[in-house]
Amino acid sequence: MTAPANDRFAAPRPTPKPGLMDIAAYVGGKSKIDGVAHPVKLSSNENILGCSEAARAAFRDAADRLHVYPDGKAPALRAAIAARYDIEPERLTFGDGSDEIFALLNQAYLEPGDNIIQGEHGFAAYAIGARACQGEVRLAKEPNQRIDIDEVVKQVDDRTRLVFIANPANPTGTWLTGEEIARLHAALPPSVVLVLDGAYSEFCADPRFDDGLALARDAENVVVTRTFSKLHGLASLRIGWAYAPTAIIDALERIRPPFNTSIAGQEAAVAALADTDFQARSLALVAQWRPWLTQQLGGLGLEVTPSAANFVLVNFPPTPGKTAKEAEAFLAMNGYIVRGVGNYGLPDAVRITIGLEEHNRAVIDLLAQFMAR
Ligand SMILES: Cc1ncc(COP(=O)(O)O)c(C=O)c1O
Repeated sequence: MTAPANDRFAAPRPTPKPGLMDIAAYVGGKSKIDGVAHPVKLSSNENILGCSEAARAAFRDAADRLHVYPDGKAPALRAAIAARYDIEPERLTFGDGSDEIFALLNQAYLEPGDNIIQGEHGFAAYAIGARACQGEVRLAKEPNQRIDIDEVVKQVDDRTRLVFIANPANPTGTWLTGEEIARLHAALPPSVVLVLDGAYSEFCADPRFDDGLALARDAENVVVTRTFSKLHGLASLRIGWAYAPTAIIDALERIRPPFNTSIAGQEAAVAALADTDFQARSLALVAQWRPWLTQQLGGLGLEVTPSAANFVLVNFPPTPGKTAKEAEAFLAMNGYIVRGVGNYGLPDAVRITIGLEEHNRAVIDLLAQFMAR
């Protein structure tokens, strides 16, 4: 006898809950190329300068305490972040990367059949977490590869629980002004959580940009997330944090795995936050080379989406011989790993992390050859 598709109790073997096997697992940026000994990885928006020396030293010091459980409330890091951003320490929570915070938000607020809204090219982790909770993922159109507030608001219905906005966004690099974020917030029902993912916020220097912390301070439904993976170059240590109203923190803290951030990660993050010189060098590198790359790529006839992050999204023509897929393969063959973003609904684009001067120049030289083939 065959069990009905979702009679999981009568199934001959364990069956994941409905919808789970429809989730496409997250695919990270590649880090290897067959036959290339030391490729340059420009595929995951990591910090090409590495990380702060002080963070590295803090990580080494933590080696003496590998047998000790961490304090998941991260008291020293909590105090350091609260002081740096002038925010209330009790309104913070920490995650195994900000990715874990998105998953916890979905778990805390979504019941099966509820929905989240994100941009059509939005970051994959939000949707994976929502689908794991049997939530529906609603994609708002992004004309010109940029979030459109009216398109987001159009998607809201009485089952909407969360709206995820990365600002600046990945993989497009586009961003919303503080005024647009305020307009979006004003248009959402108070029961909807607005998540402002600031993974790349430090890289946007435009005065019209707003990191959302002030909005989160005053509103009852705004969460700002940040990470040590990008500017601070600590992607492997997995430290993300969220600033949110006390009631939201209270909900998240009930389900957060108690030891989710490591001692080494917390202590390296404290050191990284204090190293403003490393941060300034990292920002200066992006500020110098992002416009250069944009201009040079434009000179090759390629359209670059205006980016406020530590990467650029390059749009290729669909012409055989000149496509994004072929460009990615050509760069790989020559030792440069970039990121095709077909899985973000952008089959004609490639995302390139800003590299060191020699990397940026090499990428331009290679793409000049590619376009001239
Ligand atoms: C928009 C965005 N948010 C969050 C993250 C994840 O950051 P974390 O390393 O803190 O999990 C990334 C990483 O690529 C990202 O692009």
